[in-house]
Amino acid sequence: MRRKIIAGNWKMNKTPSEAVQLIEELKPLVANDDVDVVFCVPAVDLVPAIEAVKGTNIAIGAENMYYQESGAYTGEISPNMLTDIGVKYVIIGHSDRREYFAETDETVNKKVLKAFEHGITPIICCGESLTQREQGITIDWIRQQIKIAFLNVTPAQAKEAVIAYEPIWAIGTGKVATSEQAEEVCAAIRACIAEIFDEATAEAIRIQYGGSVSASSAPELFAMPNIDGGLVGGASLKPDFGKIVNYNK
Ligand code: PGA
Repeated sequence: MRRKIIAGNWKMNKTPSEAVQLIEELKPLVANDDVDVVFCVPAVDLVPAIEAVKGTNIAIGAENMYYQESGAYTGEISPNMLTDIGVKYVIIGHSDRREYFAETDETVNKKVLKAFEHGITPIICCGESLTQREQGITIDWIRQQIKIAFLNVTPAQAKEAVIAYEPIWAIGTGKVATSEQAEEVCAAIRACIAEIFDEATAEAIRIQYGGSVSASSAPELFAMPNIDGGLVGGASLKPDFGKIVNYNK
């Protein structure tokens, strides 16, 4: 039985002091020993956030990371900077980064390999546009994203990975995918992982759904056999996130 993982993606929201305030507010609401809870926060919020979650069930993740150890990469953050402060997870290849910051399947793969090298769990994002869905190429597209993201990843590493399936048309739009639509793609992702690696790896890997997840849509989505939790944007900044984390209560 896979353990659910529910992560908030704060995106470019909350100053460091606002972050601490929000964590204090959410702490009692997101207590749920049945699931893994992660807050992925902006880079400058990481240190105060890690301090603020001490002694709780919340782990802190970054929203991005570079694939080099150090050097002349102005503005970037290295994996050892993240591990040094206690970051456990990193979102890789979010559609915002693909759209606005030239992230490609190839850079996603490099970052995934680097994250594993440093013992950071990558939350690897994939997802189709509305046009691609209408063209009927969703599954082909996602399979390609997954195959490139996992190039040269070992089965042992893949078992620890988290994949976030986020249809781009559902992100920040209030237009959540139906449970059936989300399940269909998450099942196809698991089948693709079985093809690349093996059945045991496919059974172990956790696949989240993301895109307008809310307190009302979470229970049905997370009850689907191939959906192991969610990557939550807007609602992760609100008390509603407590309800999403406690979807099973
Ligand atoms: P949303 O964002 O929940 O606000 O749609 C999800 C995400 O971008 O990870």
